[in-house]
Amino acid sequence: MSETQATPTVRRADDRHRYEIHVGDTRAGLTAYRDHGTQRVFFHTEVDDAFAGQGLASVLVREALADVRALGLRIVPVCPYVAKFLTKHTEFDDITDPVTPEVRAWLAAQLG
Ligand SMILES: CC(C)(COP(=O)(O)OP(=O)(O)OC[C@H]1O[C@@H](n2cnc3c(N)ncnc32)[C@H](O)[C@@H]1OP(=O)(O)O)[C@@H](O)C(=O)NCCC(=O)NCCS
Repeated sequence: MSETQATPTVRRADDRHRYEIHVGDTRAGLTAYRDHGTQRVFFHTEVDDAFAGQGLASVLVREALADVRALGLRIVPVCPYVAKFLTKHTEFDDITDPVTPEVRAWLAAQLG
């Protein structure tokens, strides 16, 4: 008999500029951002190897992007995973902005 998996939960961690997904008491992954005016610029998503391939990144990014909408902000998908997610989830098209050289340069400066 297989163990019952805990339902994943997504939390915004403002102090760390990221959203985290937890399975039970374990942090399984994160998607990181910086805010550029009203744009939330997503630049990195990762899921721990122990939780890979279970769709957790998809759950995490979907909830993060829904939160961006709820906050009245816009999405800039520098992260390749978020960019790929958005090609399949067109419901976020109205709040998505293109990745411009200016945003890339700004982000690089932010991240040092
Ligand atoms: C990419 C990553 C976050 C996916 O996590 P996951 O929970 O296993 O992903 P899911 O099960 O939700 O989704 C798998 C999808 O991710 C896609 N994917 C895997 N690596 C990817 C990458 N580097 N860039 C874009 N998409 C990627 C797969 O092609 C798959 O797509 P499909 O749903 O169309 O088949 C995870 O593999 C990881 O942490 N990788 C190392 C860090 C990384 O490369 N991050 C992405 C760029 S910042």
